[in-house]
Amino acid sequence: MAVTESSTNVVLGGARGGPDVATLRQDRWWLQPVITVSVLTAFVIYSTWAAFQNKYYYVGANVHRDLISPFYSPCLASDCVPGSKAGFAFNGWALSPALLILIFPLGFRLTCYYYRRSYYRAFWWSPPACAVSDAHSSYSGETRFPLIMQNLHRYFFFAGLIFNTLLTYDAIRAFHQPGLGWGVTVGTIVLCVNATLLWLYSLSCHACRHLCGGQVNSFSKHPIRYRFWKFLTPLNAKHMNFAWASLVFVALADVYVRLVASGVISDYKLF
Ligand code: FES
Repeated sequence: MAVTESSTNVVLGGARGGPDVATLRQDRWWLQPVITVSVLTAFVIYSTWAAFQNKYYYVGANVHRDLISPFYSPCLASDCVPGSKAGFAFNGWALSPALLILIFPLGFRLTCYYYRRSYYRAFWWSPPACAVSDAHSSYSGETRFPLIMQNLHRYFFFAGLIFNTLLTYDAIRAFHQPGLGWGVTVGTIVLCVNATLLWLYSLSCHACRHLCGGQVNSFSKHPIRYRFWKFLTPLNAKHMNFAWASLVFVALADVYVRLVASGVISDYKLF
């Protein structure tokens, strides 16, 4: 976009906002912010509700299954339902076990570079879209609390890897049907797809790509990092897709386990 005389340079702490007219765009630029607000709001409402439920998060040996909701894994409370407990427990934790762990996946998503762009646009209107006037008169960037916390993203990335590993372990466990042996059910596929999408989301992360290929002056001197970087770069180009797909699917995986655990549906055995 050509810079016009009425545009304002972005300066930390400086004035912001465009020309008097909000925008000259005639296309449906508002559609993307509306979709972002709708999906993120629905996810936050559902995940908060699910986290406080503290029941129907595990399908166990009584129905020959081993399925745990991704919102509750690892289950670290001492009163987790039988079979769902991780090796370690916080004795005396009286609230839902989901509340012990959700800060990590939530922190990873909240600080994600892609989601930042999306929710700054959709919720803050800062700015709502390209060539649309900013709703705020000043700009401080991510230099002050709370937005300075966005810099924690690379640490949440490492926490996310731990959770991905645990959820992959859950997906492998879902192949085991206590009392019957090994097999595949719809629940197995749901947990496998969920773990795969979460890995794709993490591996396509900008921090991950930087970790593998950043600060290297000569790739020929770092052939292994170069290979990682080559592998991750096409994934990184699809980060937005993986962000949405993994967000929606992790909620669907919880819905599925919840429906089976509460007896609304049964987990169909494929073989
Ligand atoms: S940039 Fe989105 S997860 Fe790291």
